[in-house]
Amino acid sequence: MARRNVIRMGHPLLRELAKPLSKEEILNSQELIQDLFDTMAEEKGIGIAAPQIGVSLQAAIIELPKENPRYPDIEESDTFIIFNPKMTVLDSTTQGYWEGCLSVPGLRGFVERPRKVCIDYLDQEANSQRIELEGFLATVFQHELDHLFGVLYVDRISDKTKLSFIEEFIQFHSEDEQLEEDV
Ligand code: NI
Repeated sequence: MARRNVIRMGHPLLRELAKPLSKEEILNSQELIQDLFDTMAEEKGIGIAAPQIGVSLQAAIIELPKENPRYPDIEESDTFIIFNPKMTVLDSTTQGYWEGCLSVPGLRGFVERPRKVCIDYLDQEANSQRIELEGFLATVFQHELDHLFGVLYVDRISDKTKLSFIEEFIQFHSEDEQLEEDV
């Protein structure tokens, strides 16, 4: 049970396709999951994927702050532990948020992603789960899933004028829609 170092953009492991876990590996993953929670709490993130702590496995957690006035209609069930996810786009109309990433510290970038998706994944008991997501949570899930497939949010910024250091983001861009935290 420990906080782990978060690896940063440039580390080749962040560009690998992470390996799916077997059912047995999922059932024995408590230490990995606890490390993810400890690291996310320490870094004040709202999501983190195993590759970000140097483990190339398809595991990620997402935990939104319990009370976030900016996003009052976010799901009441606010902790997700996901393994081997697969995404289906339900509505390819895009929505944009300013995103940040624990592996790309100090920056924010505006990313447009499909607004509604379906995620099939295995939970901590290795049971199949399916969840439909839209809005903010759909973006957070897509950001985390990207980490499992070697993609960083900076790859998905179509308008490169919307990649900014945090100080300049606050000064010049903060009235746009944004994620509050790194993921
Ligand atoms: Ni990230």
